[in-house]
Amino acid sequence: MNQTELFEIRMSDVSETSLLTLYCHALESQSSDPIISDPKAVEIMRAMNQELSKSKKRLHRKMVKGKIDKRMVVHIAIRAKRYDEYVTEFLKSSPEGVVVNIGCGLDSRFSRIDNGRVRFYDLDLPDVIGIKRRFLEETDRYHLIPSSVLDYDWMEPLLRRCGGPFLFVAEGVFMYLHREDVKSLVLELQSRFPGSELVCEVVNDLWLKGALKGIVNFKMRKELHLGKDATFHFGIKGSREMEKWNPGITFLDDWSYFDSKEEKLGWLRLMGRVGLFRKTQWTVHYRLNQP
Ligand SMILES: C[S@@+](CC[C@H](N)C(=O)[O-])C[C@H]1O[C@@H](n2cnc3c(N)ncnc32)[C@H](O)[C@@H]1O
Repeated sequence: MNQTELFEIRMSDVSETSLLTLYCHALESQSSDPIISDPKAVEIMRAMNQELSKSKKRLHRKMVKGKIDKRMVVHIAIRAKRYDEYVTEFLKSSPEGVVVNIGCGLDSRFSRIDNGRVRFYDLDLPDVIGIKRRFLEETDRYHLIPSSVLDYDWMEPLLRRCGGPFLFVAEGVFMYLHREDVKSLVLELQSRFPGSELVCEVVNDLWLKGALKGIVNFKMRKELHLGKDATFHFGIKGSREMEKWNPGITFLDDWSYFDSKEEKLGWLRLMGRVGLFRKTQWTVHYRLNQP
């Protein structure tokens, strides 16, 4: 197996996607007029550069040289900023609310949104959390959960410790899971955390079949140089699709990169006017009420 080892931790192909988003946050932070400011990402990137400079992988060599497609850097930064806003909006009405960042990667959202009262949980696979622990310390309000989101044992301690209200965010995660797993996770969240909110990124299921799937895989392998297990499995047709999974799941709003007014998006902002493009990869916000 051609797996990456970082800080003596072996990473899976899917976990490795967290490196790309980290580099996007850090590179954008260092650019002029940055979309997000994330000194922690810059610090982690610098330490990571030393580790990755030993690697022969193309992806790693490109990252160390800061050679990541500028459009991707802008997209990922716009997404991070929008997810920060979702959290900040939630905290306006629930300042002591509980935020669970599902598939958090090496992102440092807590430091970007901390209002001094939020209780924040970063959840990711044990390899990613193992690396994250080197850079971020747990406190009474900031916690790391080394677990697959699909191993529901992580839910019980959270319920014991916190009364809510709960916001779950899954930025760039659900597409890597299988449909039946995403569905059963959402139903589990609904049943154990009734009244909670879920903000999750989704892809259009058109991209999971035939020639379009070929394009996605080409991009993942040949342009991003990610391993073969980093591939999309889950998609939906429209924002209201999850409402059909169970009564009580309520669509609140959705958001696409192309809705952004960021100057750096350039002419791509025009894509927001074309429904098909707007709904290629986008974000949906639900409330998970009791059925
Ligand atoms: C593209 S990265 C996104 C990271 C972060 N949300 C961000 O936007 O910077 C996808 C993340 O999902 C995590 N992931 C994939 N499957 C997972 C699972 N079953 N449980 C928890 N995390 C998972 C990966 O380890 C990786 O960190």
